[in-house]
Amino acid sequence: MCSSVWAQIPQAGLLLLILSPVLALKTLEPSPSASRSGRVPIEGWVDVRLNHFNAANTATFPMRYYYNNEFASENIVIFVGGEWAISPGWVRSGLAYELAEATRAGLFYTEHRYYGLTRPTEDTGLEFLRFLTVDQALADLAQFIQYVKSDAFEAGQFRQAKVALVGCSYAGSMATWMRLAYPHLVDAVFSDSGPLHAQEDFPEYLEVITEAIKVQGGQNCLSSIEEAVQQLTLLLTTSEGPGQASQMFKTCSPINARSTLDLATFFWYGITETFAYLVQYAVPGDIPNACSVITNTSVANPVQRLANWITAQSWTQPCIETRYSEVVATHRNTSYTSEKTTMRLWTYQTCVEFGWYQTTTSTRQPFLTTIPLEYFHQMCRDFFALNINENLLRAGIERTNLMFGGLSRLPDKVVTVMGSHDPWSPMGPNVDHQHHLAPVFVVPQISHCRAIRPTGDSETEELERTKVAVLQRMQSFVTGIDSGASELRAVASMVIVISVLAFI
Ligand SMILES: *[C@@H]1O[C@H](CO)[C@@H](O)[C@H](O)[C@H]1NC(C)=O
Ligand SMILES: *[C@@H]1O[C@H](CO)[C@@H](O)[C@H](O)[C@H]1NC(C)=O
Repeated sequence: MCSSVWAQIPQAGLLLLILSPVLALKTLEPSPSASRSGRVPIEGWVDVRLNHFNAANTATFPMRYYYNNEFASENIVIFVGGEWAISPGWVRSGLAYELAEATRAGLFYTEHRYYGLTRPTEDTGLEFLRFLTVDQALADLAQFIQYVKSDAFEAGQFRQAKVALVGCSYAGSMATWMRLAYPHLVDAVFSDSGPLHAQEDFPEYLEVITEAIKVQGGQNCLSSIEEAVQQLTLLLTTSEGPGQASQMFKTCSPINARSTLDLATFFWYGITETFAYLVQYAVPGDIPNACSVITNTSVANPVQRLANWITAQSWTQPCIETRYSEVVATHRNTSYTSEKTTMRLWTYQTCVEFGWYQTTTSTRQPFLTTIPLEYFHQMCRDFFALNINENLLRAGIERTNLMFGGLSRLPDKVVTVMGSHDPWSPMGPNVDHQHHLAPVFVVPQISHCRAIRPTGDSETEELERTKVAVLQRMQSFVTGIDSGASELRAVASMVIVISVLAFI
């Protein structure tokens, strides 16, 4: 079932979001050839409040969206945008598109405030970031839904519409939280890979990566990585070592092994994030291919083998930045058009609301203790200000879990999918649970955000079956016609008939 579509995904123009649940949603986007109608979606803008939580502040800003009216007659399907710029591919194909077709819905794709071209402020300076919170972004969506259902949009065509939200990763969290916060506006939710529990230290992330490498690439590959990291850390303590490592890994400048921040930067940008990118977006074959280089015994030195694989990845090109001061300088740029804007904005959200720092504090991973939690505390202070510190972070995480309930209870009419090899799975619902109103499907060996892609293009049979089940469940939430339950009732009445017959 692994189709050639994967091969067509362009490698150029990748958005690389380190720390982010969605490293690059664009790389997952169904290829344009998958579009059936060839129709060009409409780009639209709607004014929403800058601060939804101060009734006395009526200032607004324009929020961008895409709209595909191909199937529009009764309902509304919204593909929710997260920490990235929206692009038209997701209103042309994928599961949200198929749901729109099945429910005769207008299909929308909304852009999250501050990301892409939805810019509420003149720049991203710290004072301007105070309106960047998930609760403000949810309220934007609420206002958007109200607008689309009003007479002001398409002459009131959607006045009576049912509303379904589809989101993956952080946008899946948002979709789930929309049902919790605004049940009067949202009738059905599909969250793919959405983390729901905010947490400061997130060592489980690298544990899942380790498990995926072990299962898909073999113990031998894992041992080779472990050996390489051990030898590399030793090498970096010698006088010639840093120079050799710099050459092997093609770093942008010689590694300064005396700086703990530079060392953490090297291991983070150069090594663990490269594995994160591999596993978070793996399709079958990706991990074994990487492992064939990492375990290639015609190269005797395991560090060299690791370097050979790392430097062959497009995102480590042209060189790996190991200077922490350089990382700070680029992320302090407050222009919306700076290369690191998305990363600056998402880092801000992690510093004040979510944490989710992918450290090496677990012993069940091969990267030793190269990336401590303090590295991220330092990053928050250096990118923003001294008061964006761990006290603020901890208070923010507590607030997020208080407001949205963490993993304590899923709201109803929410369908969740998690891949068992998705490194984000420990932060979301991750136990298979066939609850009628809030089912959770855990798909074995699947990575992040795979279930929002089109049916008929799935890497495993089980993923394909899950997509079909999600569509059915969502359709029944939207239409109120419950095909699954009526089948159950039919079975139940047969049982009654049979037992009545047996009685006679
Ligand atoms: C293994 O290394 C040798 C020598 O560098 C190289 O010729 C060969 O292509 C490598 N094989 C793989 C699978 O990387
Ligand atoms: C910030 O980024 C913008 C856009 O890339 C660039 O023009 C500007 O020179 C940068 N500012 C600084 C201070 O580096």
